[in-house]
Order: sequence, then structure tokens, then C-alpha cells
Amino acid sequence: MPTELTIAIAKGRLQDAAFELFARAGIVVSDEMLASRRLLVDDEAGRYSFIFVKPSDVPVYVEYGVADAGICGSDVLMESNADVHQPLDLGFGRCRLVVAGRADSATRGYNPLAIARVVTKYPRITADYFQRRGMPIELIELSGSVELAPVLGLSDHIVDLVETGTTLRDNGLVAIDTIAEISARLVVNRANYQLKRGAVSALIDTLKANKHQQH
Ligand code: PRP
Repeated sequence: MPTELTIAIAKGRLQDAAFELFARAGIVVSDEMLASRRLLVDDEAGRYSFIFVKPSDVPVYVEYGVADAGICGSDVLMESNADVHQPLDLGFGRCRLVVAGRADSATRGYNPLAIARVVTKYPRITADYFQRRGMPIELIELSGSVELAPVLGLSDHIVDLVETGTTLRDNGLVAIDTIAEISARLVVNRANYQLKRGAVSALIDTLKANKHQQH
């Protein structure tokens, strides 16, 4: 029998917290399944299928209905153009999206007359942030370890996530401005929010009822 819903899970940092929440909600995936390299697993009751995808791909799978729902960070949703329903802030995965720079240059602030180079994994958010401030930038997109850029002189600033602040500190960088507070979100395909209303509502309700015990 097919499962009721397919849920895309962002691989990586949010994955464990997501399955802790599912477990509290009585949606159990065996440790053996979670420890395996399988990219598609079902819960023990056979109600839900989970697919494991790159965080930035979660809104894509959900928008196109390959997954009915998904869990990813709000940073991914801000950066994505995907048209998905966002019914629930899950409360875990809290961090900040910040502009950061070298500690020795941060005190000097921005030079509004100079074109700053900014390195980021978030080109849309970054372009928008600096454009709103009327600050011209040269944007360079990297896909990880962006904290290296100011250290090596590739850029003046970065836009990236800060959770504990350890990565910034250990690389001699400081946060200059917070662009957004980030947390994990449940997203739902717009059409299936209506077409599978019963199953989707049941999922939202049970996650909502169990998310408070997190932390
Ligand atoms: C994220 C983020 C920072 C770091 C912040 O990177 O991009 O580099 O975590 O965490 P902290 O403030 O607790 O040090 P991630 O480990 O996901 O890897 P990435 O650099 O490949 O994106």
C-alpha cells in the first residue's frame, strides 16, 4: 500500500532534530533505516515516506509535488523562489543569517564609495540586502566554507549562517549585521495542501503539538 504522504528532509544539520520531533509525534523510523545510506525510507506504520535531499532542493521537491511536504531551514526558503505553503515554524535549528567580516576591518564599517566583494552561498538574499541599502557589491558565490574568503583576501565580507559563533571566531571574523533569524520550517505543496487536506492537517497538528518539548 502506498504511504499517505512523502516528506522531503534536508540532509545534514536539521535531520536528527527532525526525526526526534517525528519520534515524539509517534512517527517512528528505525535507527537501522536512519543509519543506512538509503535516500527513501518509510516510517514503521507505513504512513509516511521520507526522502533525504540537499537542503536547497527541499523547496523544489515540494513545489513540484514529488514530495507533499518538507523540512528545511527558513534560510533556504528565503533564498528559493519556490511557491510552497509554509504552515509551521518547527522551532529547532535556530541560527542567524549575518553579514560578517574580519574583526580588524569591521570597526571601520562599510565604505559606501567602494565596491565591496561579498562571498556567500545565498546570492539572492545577499544581492537584495545590499541593493536595499544602495551599496554596490561584487558578489561571488561559493558552496561552503565561505569563512575562508575574508581570511584569504577573496572578499571583504561574507553572508552566512551563524549558530554558536565558533566558526566566525576561530577564523578571526565578527558578525556586522543580522539579516534574519533562522529556524526549521515545515513546507507543504500548495495543491496537496487542499487535495490531501486530511493527511496534511494531521501531520501539521501532530508536529505542532509536539514541537514545544524541543531543546
Ligand atoms: C554552517 C555555516 C557556518 C557554520 C556556523 O556551515 O555555513 O560555516 O555552520 O556554525 P557555528 O556558528 O556554530 O560555528 P556547515 O557546517 O553547515 O558547513 P558549510 O560551510 O559547508 O556550509
